[in-house]
Amino acid sequence: MSKKLRIGIIGTGWIADAHIVEYKKMPDIEIVAGADLVPGKAEAFFKKWDVEGVKCYPDHKSMLDAEELDAVSICTYNMTHAECAIYALQKGVNVLLEKPMCVTIEEAVDICRAERESGKIISIGFQPRLDPNMQMIKKIVESGELGKVYYIQTGGGRRRGIPTPFGTTFIDAKTGGIGALGDIGCYSLDMVLNAIGYPKPLTVSGYKSDYFGTRPSTYPTHPEYAKVFGVDDFAAAFIRLEGDIILDFRISWAMNMDTAGDTLILGTEGGLRIPSTECWNGTVGGPMKIYHEVAGEQVETEIPIIKQQGEGLFYDKIRSFLDAIKEGGTAPVPTSQIIYNQAILDGIVKSGKLGREIEITIPEI
Ligand SMILES: NC(=O)c1ccc[n+]([C@@H]2O[C@H](COP(=O)([O-])OP(=O)(O)OC[C@H]3O[C@@H](n4cnc5c(N)ncnc54)[C@H](O)[C@@H]3O)[C@@H](O)[C@H]2O)c1
Repeated sequence: MSKKLRIGIIGTGWIADAHIVEYKKMPDIEIVAGADLVPGKAEAFFKKWDVEGVKCYPDHKSMLDAEELDAVSICTYNMTHAECAIYALQKGVNVLLEKPMCVTIEEAVDICRAERESGKIISIGFQPRLDPNMQMIKKIVESGELGKVYYIQTGGGRRRGIPTPFGTTFIDAKTGGIGALGDIGCYSLDMVLNAIGYPKPLTVSGYKSDYFGTRPSTYPTHPEYAKVFGVDDFAAAFIRLEGDIILDFRISWAMNMDTAGDTLILGTEGGLRIPSTECWNGTVGGPMKIYHEVAGEQVETEIPIIKQQGEGLFYDKIRSFLDAIKEGGTAPVPTSQIIYNQAILDGIVKSGKLGREIEITIPEI
């Protein structure tokens, strides 16, 4: 048997659980190192998961300086994604980076430059892409069934769903950096942009607000969280994409409405309706429908929900990354696409602050 891949986990919080569960199923890897800023947290994490012999470190740098690793899972909060990913790439380590890629477009550019200089693989953790229903959206667009796509409405809504189950790292600007935008907005963007081939974003007129996050009554057991809240709990934007495509976007962690609406993809030959979910988490909410004409008649074609097979999306996300390393392949979810996702998130924040439309410019990598 060939040598096992030596894996490190940076950040041992909530989502690291989902990574370690899948790594434990894989006989061709060994988890050799872990790091967390909170003293004792990494040690407790590996103990909880019954993984022995893992060397624990107080931060990503000390781990990457000391260990010879093939790959790391970066499961830290958004604000440290860029520094961890860049340092790992500089050390010649392949990176599976949790979504969102980072917080700002400047960070995204720095990550892409570090990737280019390292020659290593960095894949961004958008596991909903591996859902066969999501893949069906892309297949429908690529089949030409919709004709030329010219307008997309997307986003997701939670009536109340500000994530604070394990503390304040999602809502504190110092750790989360961005709120609903980075938590779930990036999924909606990936769903539609991936389907249409990730065209370049050109301009954005964005808006963001924090009316719910800053209210003590939002957190009945932790009213003090309201003072910590420093990110967006709602955002909306009108984005122009290359290829004369309009993207109408909204995302909500909290609002006085049941849904922010279904995702609609309008094309010259057909329109696709993708039902939203009550609590948007990047999954298709029900059977999709294509609205089109057959023999001059306006008809609808229903696309039934496709059942997922195999080990699940998280397994597939990690496996596809590891297989790319082993086979000398390319990143399953490449930064060359996700930089556009990040540019839109960043554009919404910047445009929202300025109160006007802005042009999106991405420097040469
Ligand atoms: N793909 C998904 O389905 C999914 C789901 C939930 C969260 N996420 C993403 O995962 C990331 C982490 O979320 P979470 O809920 O696990 O957060 P969390 O706050 O529970 O855990 C993050 C951990 O990272 C540690 N950390 C931060 N910087 C570090 C550094 N430089 N070195 C070592 N440790 C460091 C923190 O101490 C903390 O323990 C977020 O970016 C989030 O968007 C993805």
